Amino acid sequence: MHPSRKQAEALLNESEKLNPGKWADHCRVAAQCAEKIASACTGSDNLDPDKAYVLALLHDIGRRFGPSQFGHISDGYHYMQQLGYDEAARICLTHSFPQQDIQSYIGRYDVPPAEVTKLGQHLAALQYDDYDRLIQLCDSVAMAEGVVSINQRLDDVERRYGHFPAEKRAALIRLKAYFEAKMQRNLYSVISDNPALWENAEK
Ligand SMILES: [Fe+2]
Repeated sequence: MHPSRKQAEALLNESEKLNPGKWADHCRVAAQCAEKIASACTGSDNLDPDKAYVLALLHDIGRRFGPSQFGHISDGYHYMQQLGYDEAARICLTHSFPQQDIQSYIGRYDVPPAEVTKLGQHLAALQYDDYDRLIQLCDSVAMAEGVVSINQRLDDVERRYGHFPAEKRAALIRLKAYFEAKMQRNLYSVISDNPALWENAEK
């Protein structure tokens, strides 16, 4: 279960007022990317562009409760569960884990250890689907100001958090290749109007 586009947009607008910041525009950019990629995917296991948009728009909704690191995952997960949006709750949890391991989080665990353990168990029990993978990818190309390359975005995260593990970067670059194979197109040509980005060939 997930909200409609209108409901999701209203939720994000309300949340942005509670905790103003660039995070809300980052979510809007991620949502536009998710919708475009989902529309460009071909094949029998098609993604629903509307659902992709909504799930990406809400992936950081935990930030409505104030500045936090791991806390935004936990807050978003529980908030979406409370509203009955289990599919959005799942994305609040999975979006930070291209490696399906709660210990691979790069920020601070600013919640009680028991909460990390509990969410780690939920995460490990999931079978990732293409919505999980898609929002992980969109999170890694969306800045508040617009679309950037994976490496530009991760360099920015590295500057803010102090480090970004090579394995996690490699996992995101594999996701780019995964969706490019589904779309039969270069990722950046789908999500950006900037021709300079299209040449970007992360391997
Ligand atoms: Fe995000």
